[in-house]
Amino acid sequence: MARAVRYLARDAGVAQFLDIGTGLPSAGNVHEVAQSVDPAARIVYVDNDPVVLVHARALLTSSPEGRTAYIDADLRDPAKILAAPELAATLDPSRPTALMLVAIMHFITDDEDPYGLVAQLVDALPSGSHIVITHATGDHLTPDEYAAAEETNARSGVPFRLRSRAEFARFFDGLDLIDPGVTSVVDWRPDTPPEQRPSVEDVSMYCAAARIP
Ligand SMILES: C[S@@+](CC[C@H](N)C(=O)[O-])C[C@H]1O[C@@H](n2cnc3c(N)ncnc32)[C@H](O)[C@@H]1O
Repeated sequence: MARAVRYLARDAGVAQFLDIGTGLPSAGNVHEVAQSVDPAARIVYVDNDPVVLVHARALLTSSPEGRTAYIDADLRDPAKILAAPELAATLDPSRPTALMLVAIMHFITDDEDPYGLVAQLVDALPSGSHIVITHATGDHLTPDEYAAAEETNARSGVPFRLRSRAEFARFFDGLDLIDPGVTSVVDWRPDTPPEQRPSVEDVSMYCAAARIP
């Protein structure tokens, strides 16, 4: 997330971010990373977890030049997100926005239309906007490890859908992938030497960023 936000703010000239599946605030939230490059950056956070909502105040600590907002909403209801007054009050709909879907799409099952949800959000953004997705995969697991992962996921009670490289790449159909294209998060524009990075297998998470034409 941090490497992608830095790239977008610094090299792609993106100053607006819609971060869906924000998670609990921690060190280096999207607005802190973006505003360290561009203090005027504007960020809208979205999550459906009431615990995240309770901690949302920590996300509303924008620089004076920028702005942040929080929407308590579900990715599976993109119309609610797009119609939220907080979105209209924070992001200029005529300016490029980066849609951040970092470690959230694997919670969307096939019958919840993951590709359709992403397309609805992408279609609402102006040309020159960007999208970043990271997604858990079982591609690097042995069959036994895969079966064990599926069993653990089923027992957790939280729907979880590992997707293959091809299934992940489909989210970017019709968009202009940014170099290096679909890759492990470990290898996406790394800023640490190889020996300091975790292994592709241990992370088992794809990443890609694309420009919306
Ligand atoms: C693994 S965390 C990722 C947090 C952050 N993006 C990161 O990478 O550090 C996933 C987040 O997505 C949120 N989430 C899961 N399903 C969601 C949905 N359908 N709508 C909105 N948020 C959702 C969860 O509440 C959680 O905060």
